[in-house]
Amino acid sequence: MISIKQPEGKLGILLPGMGAVTTTLIAGVEMLKKGLTVPYGSVTQMQTIRLGRRDDKKYPIIKDFVPLAKVDEIEFFTWDITDETAYDAAKNAKVLSEADLDKVKPELEKIRPMKAVFDQKHVKRLSGTHVKTGENKMELAEQIRQDIRRCSEGLSRMVMVWCASTEVHREIKEVHSSLEKFEQGLRENNEDILPSMVYAYAAIQEGVPFVNGSPQLTVDIPALIELAKAKNVPIAGKDLKTGQTMIKTIIAPGIKSRMLGMKGWFSTNILGNRDGEVLDDPESLKSKIVSKASVLDHILQKEMYPQLYKDLHHRVNINYYPPKGDDKEGWDHIDLFGWLGYPMQLKINFLCKDSILAAPIVLDLALFIDLAQRAGMIGIQEWLSFYFKSPMCSEKVYPEHDLFIQHKKLKNTLRHMMGEDLITHLGNEYYREE
Ligand SMILES: NC(=O)c1ccc[n+]([C@@H]2O[C@H](COP(=O)([O-])OP(=O)(O)OC[C@H]3O[C@@H](n4cnc5c(N)ncnc54)[C@H](O)[C@@H]3O)[C@@H](O)[C@H]2O)c1
Repeated sequence: MISIKQPEGKLGILLPGMGAVTTTLIAGVEMLKKGLTVPYGSVTQMQTIRLGRRDDKKYPIIKDFVPLAKVDEIEFFTWDITDETAYDAAKNAKVLSEADLDKVKPELEKIRPMKAVFDQKHVKRLSGTHVKTGENKMELAEQIRQDIRRCSEGLSRMVMVWCASTEVHREIKEVHSSLEKFEQGLRENNEDILPSMVYAYAAIQEGVPFVNGSPQLTVDIPALIELAKAKNVPIAGKDLKTGQTMIKTIIAPGIKSRMLGMKGWFSTNILGNRDGEVLDDPESLKSKIVSKASVLDHILQKEMYPQLYKDLHHRVNINYYPPKGDDKEGWDHIDLFGWLGYPMQLKINFLCKDSILAAPIVLDLALFIDLAQRAGMIGIQEWLSFYFKSPMCSEKVYPEHDLFIQHKKLKNTLRHMMGEDLITHLGNEYYREE
């Protein structure tokens, strides 16, 4: 059993970006604290975990099995480019009804964002007034570090989860290749260092675990992975697996497990929230499309099953359509074939609510990365792949996208942490008795 420090005292969840996801999360947690709701969608709060043999009948809820911070012990801190209370931001996001927001109005009104590190070059569709200034990016990182230290008063631990807008797509460049080059880049205001990387650098320097909820690289660069290891900090990312990609990673492993072939998978998304508006810029869109596109290749393994998947056409579109608001709609059309090559079709129309799916994921990630920190786990936390569209992994392996493998890995990691047997699903009931 791994030695895990108990979660004594308060946990600060630091959230760059106070938009739809962040305000939906905060409002929900504040309602949970008052006993006004049930934590639907949260694996940590609702899911059981089997221990031992099926007939041992031990199924504790995850939050009672591993020492997680209690929801009552959470406090929130945010940064945003607009200076308004979490109550006003939540109203503008139009995810939750005013009737629900009013139940936690005093708690939401108390939260005001700190000034952001922001550069319009990296999120073309936004402009902000509530923004830090400094000589260079190292100075801005220093200001975020000061913010973090100020937030730490009265808390025992903190974690940071990036819930701000999707930034433009960037490939890994020289400046990201080592910590030394990255720090030089911060001092020289290198263009390829995104604001999200400045936050991640500041958090890790302060010993605060960092999670990236958006698709751009952020912490998924050698320089920050190096820093996380040096500072003994766990990190995870990227891009929360919510609507269409969640469904894709549920359906595709099932089709593959039955050795059904696939000629094409056409996906289109229609969304109308501010996230959609940001993604209306081709450079931010590219971050998202890259994140969504690789999923099927990894699940279907066409190099291993060329007869089934070598001709697969996978198309992903994202369309900004304001009337939809936060009610995202995903359309999937899948061309399959089976025995003797006969064709079939599967069509899926998912009418989801983006931030309703994302908020419990952010809660789980914050609680799990805090657990990882207390368990002495450092660097990339691959066992949290379950929550991401584009999971970070060691360069020696490929990312695991299959939701069921990810789920098994998550639960087995928890069992391992607590010194329980891993569940292999291997039974002995098939053998005749000697
Ligand atoms: N909702 C989902 O299902 C889902 C799924 C996967 C990923 N995401 C990602 O989560 C992020 C948040 O989504 P959302 O719907 O809340 O978006 P949103 O537009 O409602 O909120 C984003 C907020 O970030 C702020 N912001 C932008 N740049 C900033 C910076 N540098 N520092 C501080 N604040 C900054 C914006 O002002 C805005 O208030 C997006 O990147 C999105 O791609 C969301």
